[in-house]
Amino acid sequence: MSKSELESLVTKEALTQLIHDELAGLQLSTNEYIQIANSILDAALEKKQVNGFAAGDYGVKPVKKLPVSSDDITIRPFDPGEDIKLLRRWTADRAGKEFLLSRLENSAASVDDLAADKDTIFGIVCTKDGTPFGIVGYLNRDREQRKAEMRKLIGDPALRGKGYGKKATKLWLSYGIHGLQLRKIYLYTFDTNLRNIRINEELGFKLEGIYRAENIIEGIPKDVIRMGLLLGDR
Ligand SMILES: CC(C)(COP(=O)(O)OP(=O)(O)OC[C@H]1O[C@@H](n2cnc3c(N)ncnc32)[C@H](O)[C@@H]1OP(=O)(O)O)[C@@H](O)C(=O)NCCC(=O)NCCS
Repeated sequence: MSKSELESLVTKEALTQLIHDELAGLQLSTNEYIQIANSILDAALEKKQVNGFAAGDYGVKPVKKLPVSSDDITIRPFDPGEDIKLLRRWTADRAGKEFLLSRLENSAASVDDLAADKDTIFGIVCTKDGTPFGIVGYLNRDREQRKAEMRKLIGDPALRGKGYGKKATKLWLSYGIHGLQLRKIYLYTFDTNLRNIRINEELGFKLEGIYRAENIIEGIPKDVIRMGLLLGDR
C-alpha cells in the first residue's frame, strides 16, 4: 500500500469514527444507520433533491381543486354524511388508529371531531371506478402561516404495500401546494412505519426531529419522528 493510499484509508477511518461518535448517543437501529448511509451516498452522488419542490415535480398535473386524478386513482372531497362510516370502519384496527393518533398529545381524536374540525381537510382516495379505499388529510391547517400536518391511510389492509399510498400522497401534495397554497407540510410518524417514512423521503420530506419514546403502544415505548417539506421560497 502506498503512503497516499494509507493516508486516505486513515482519513476515512477517522471520518467514519467521527460520524459514529456523533450518532452513538442517538441509539439508532440498524435500519436507521442504513437510511443515513444511503442519504450520505445520495448526497455524494448529487442525487439529493433540494428541499423544496417546484410545480409539477411529482409527475402529476398541478391541481387547484378536488377531485384530482392520476392514471388509476382519484381523490375526491370528503362527504361528512356518507364518508364518516368509511372512516369509522377504516380506523377500527391498529394501523387505522395511527391515522387518528396525535402522537404529540398522546391521544386519538374521534372520527366525528376530526370530520367537524374547521382546520381539517380530508380527501377520499378512490379507484378509477369510484370505489373508496383510503383517506388523506391536512390537519391543523394554519392559514396565516400556510402550513398543515399531512396524514394518510390506505383503509383497506389488502391494498397496503401496492403503491397506492405513494400515488395518493403525490396527488394530495399537489393539491396542498397548488390548491391550498401551503408553504410547509409536516407530519409525525412512528420510526417503525417504514412504508410511510419511505414515501415521505422519496417525495422530499426531511427529518426535522426525533421525539424519543414519545408514545407507549401496547406496552412498548416508541419514537416519533417529525418530517417536513418546504415549498421553495413561498
Ligand atoms: C403508510 C401507508 C399510507 C403507505 O401506503 P402503502 O400503499 O401501504 O405504501 P406503498 O405501497 O406506496 O409503499 C411505499 C414504499 O414503502 C416500501 N415498502 C412497502 N412495504 C414495505 C415494508 N414492509 N417495509 C419497508 N418498505 C416497504 C415500498 O417499496 C415503497 O417504496 P418504493 O416506492 O421505493 O418502492 C399505508 O401502509 C397505511 O395506510 N398504513 C396505515 C396507516 C398509517 O400508518 N398512516 C401513516 C401515519 S398517518
